[in-house]
Amino acid sequence: MKRATSPPELLISLTPDADVPLRLQVERGLRQAIRSGRLPAGALLPSTRVLATDLGISRGVVLSAYDQLLAEGYLVAERGSATRVAERCAECAADSVPEVRTTATYQYDFRPGVPDMSLFPRNAWLNAMRRTLSVEPAGIFDYPDVRGIEAARASVAAYLNRARAAETRSDRIVLCNGFAQGIRLVSHVLRERGIKAIAVEDPIDADQDTYLNAEGLQQIRVPVDEDGLRVDLLSRTDARAVMVTPAHQYPTGAVLSPSRRTALLEWAVQRRAIIIEDDYDAEYRYDREPIGSLQGRAPDYVAYIGTASKMLSPALRLGWLALPAQLVDEVARVKFTADRGSPALDQLALADFLDRGELDKHLRKTRQIYRSRRDELVTALREHAPELRVRGVAAGLHLLVEFPHVVDEQRIVEAAAKHSIRVVASRSFRTERKDQPKALVLGYGRIDESKIEEGIHRLSRIISV
Ligand SMILES: Cc1ncc(COP(=O)(O)O)c(C=O)c1O
Repeated sequence: MKRATSPPELLISLTPDADVPLRLQVERGLRQAIRSGRLPAGALLPSTRVLATDLGISRGVVLSAYDQLLAEGYLVAERGSATRVAERCAECAADSVPEVRTTATYQYDFRPGVPDMSLFPRNAWLNAMRRTLSVEPAGIFDYPDVRGIEAARASVAAYLNRARAAETRSDRIVLCNGFAQGIRLVSHVLRERGIKAIAVEDPIDADQDTYLNAEGLQQIRVPVDEDGLRVDLLSRTDARAVMVTPAHQYPTGAVLSPSRRTALLEWAVQRRAIIIEDDYDAEYRYDREPIGSLQGRAPDYVAYIGTASKMLSPALRLGWLALPAQLVDEVARVKFTADRGSPALDQLALADFLDRGELDKHLRKTRQIYRSRRDELVTALREHAPELRVRGVAAGLHLLVEFPHVVDEQRIVEAAAKHSIRVVASRSFRTERKDQPKALVLGYGRIDESKIEEGIHRLSRIISV
């Protein structure tokens, strides 16, 4: 029989009949809780008497476990006061959870695909959240509809129809946790339907590659050129699904041309295939009005995925799917199994934000800022690194620069980091093309305009070494 502590903050479990003595089990349980951060520095431990009663063991066992951890420096106890987790313990950090992505700050941060965090419309979002909390009835605190709250789905559908020339309605929308979850939900359903392979753009971002692999979909890589996906080559594959970024390809920055859009839709209809449209960067087009979504031209063949990550903030983890009718129930079922639905209050805040025109207002402001940064970046590149070829249309939050000859991009990325300049090498996306030029992806979402020229000047010196 297992015994466990009742206070949830301690949660040590013992196995009395195990070969390991009880004192050691208590010691190990506490050590582990401290190392993992479950018991943080300064946390108060229960008295030896309380813990012994809780665990149904003798107080002497707990006393000697505490003594051992005091001796090791995990715990501290002052005369007459309670025992606490030590503030500083060299070993404690050993097992802490590693950072997945670097949080290092750079003086010249050209990280691609991320918006400027300081532009987040805090007041407007706060007002949307406040209104939501004041007006919604108590029912809102129940488990949400797994597809998303109806009112929020209706607002998202209205926004997509208006701003992205989509053709959808609330019962075709599923709200999810960013594109990252959206792509997994749709891929899961395709896999369940017996689709084993999906055509994808080459090159493709490494994260997208990871999501598709995680759902067991084999990828058929189809090259991208200046006009986007080579639909002629897609037709030669036997794929019955494809994932595309028609508005702004990541990382090449190409936009799918009008004739290829038509050809892609014809391919889907003929093949009875599904197009997954990653409407990446769609709201940021600087040289003309944004092009409408593919979804609006073939709602029964396109599973559309949108996200708040670039327009507002990736921290929101808000995304939306506009699905063909035939996929809605299956996607909703997979979403139920994944997490029982996305947070309701955030959905309603988003709906309020959209309905009041706050997103339009925010985009009007940020479009100008990013456009100006992009112009500055292109000018600086022309001046300080004219040998680099700038690729991609005036859109989104990144551009690609190709080297005219073979270089060790990784060396450049590392040398730049030493000079506090962040850039990403084309190595960080997946490709099967042998002729793919060496390139850097430069983002301008996060760098202040005043720093762009100096950053590129410094980078050019590193490149020319
Ligand atoms: C190609 C592409 N699509 C979509 C996204 C948005 O992902 P999410 O909504 O999960 O933040 C990203 C993120 O960087 C991306 O690279």
